[in-house]
Amino acid sequence: MPADTFVARLNEQIGHEFAAHQQYVACAVHYDAETLPQLARFFYRQALEERDHAMMMVQYLIDADADVAIPGVPAPQSTFADIVAPVALALEQERRVTQQINGLAATAREAGDYTSEQFMQWFIKEQVEEIATMSDLLRVVERSRDDPMEIENFMAREHSGDESDDPTAPHLAGAE
Ligand SMILES: [Fe+2]
Ligand SMILES: [Fe+2]
Repeated sequence: MPADTFVARLNEQIGHEFAAHQQYVACAVHYDAETLPQLARFFYRQALEERDHAMMMVQYLIDADADVAIPGVPAPQSTFADIVAPVALALEQERRVTQQINGLAATAREAGDYTSEQFMQWFIKEQVEEIATMSDLLRVVERSRDDPMEIENFMAREHSGDESDDPTAPHLAGAE
């Protein structure tokens, strides 16, 4: 059984991941409304990744025979001042989640729950990538804020493909 302290925090984290999903859908909708389909597509896809993270955590708790209580989420921010604001918000969110993920690993270790600590390793690696992606994107949108088509071209060039399948990713609840 995973440590009670870890189970409680992981249940909270499921809420944070679903909140991130909602926030990225809101960002995507903003760009869709502005007719910036590449940016919209990127955020729709990011949203799905956040849902996947939540479902990996759900599966871990189910496999460990621990209690799962799906939390409610606060409403996301859905109006933005300009083309840069959603990306700045996304980077801030990823930094916050990174701290939460590190905190989860620390909680597991303090409780001597090394299985759960190991479960968090994939998420630690994932956060490094997400911060790098959002930092790069923020630089691009800031540099080309007056030329949205330049940003759209960048997205089409650099972020057109789907994320490659990661065989080390934890199993998702509900997935085949
Ligand atoms: Fe996430
Ligand atoms: Fe993320």
